[in-house]
Amino acid sequence: MEIKIQSLENIREAARQFIAAMGESSVFAFYGKMGAGKTTFIKALCEELGVSDVISSPTFAIVNEYRSDETGELIYHFDFYRIKKLSEVYDMGYEDYFYSGALCFIEWPELVEELLPGDAVKVTIEEQEDGSRVIKL
Ligand SMILES: Nc1ncnc2c1ncn2[C@@H]1O[C@H](COP(=O)(O)OP(=O)(O)O)[C@@H](O)[C@H]1O
Ligand SMILES: [Mg+2]
Repeated sequence: MEIKIQSLENIREAARQFIAAMGESSVFAFYGKMGAGKTTFIKALCEELGVSDVISSPTFAIVNEYRSDETGELIYHFDFYRIKKLSEVYDMGYEDYFYSGALCFIEWPELVEELLPGDAVKVTIEEQEDGSRVIKL
């Protein structure tokens, strides 16, 4: 399916549409160029899922952990942009996250492609010429 984010004003609505489409899947891989809006959309998803603590981009950490106040469930947000070797990903214990059943939102999944679970949902996010974003999943 395709979700359009016309502007940042519509991002919560787009996040609600995405959440409604998530089904039973737990691992979501977000593909998109630098600046496409991956972090911003994942942040909107987390807010819409009831995470209230300030969600910052995991600039230095490979993984940030959030908890939904509504469900008490954990949500993991990965940013693999800075990894240089897959050994860093093994060392952080990626399997404990990816196969935990908890929601995992992943930026730069292409850098860990061979480690993604087979049932990871591929999501693309693209900036359009008018500045809107199109999300496909
Ligand atoms: N849906 C959107 N509409 C308008 N601007 C956006 C949208 N999503 C992100 N941006 C802006 O684009 C810039 C890059 O967003 P970011 O989420 O950091 O991208 P990425 O994580 O893909 O590199 C930020 O300045 C952000 O405010
Ligand atoms: Mg980002």
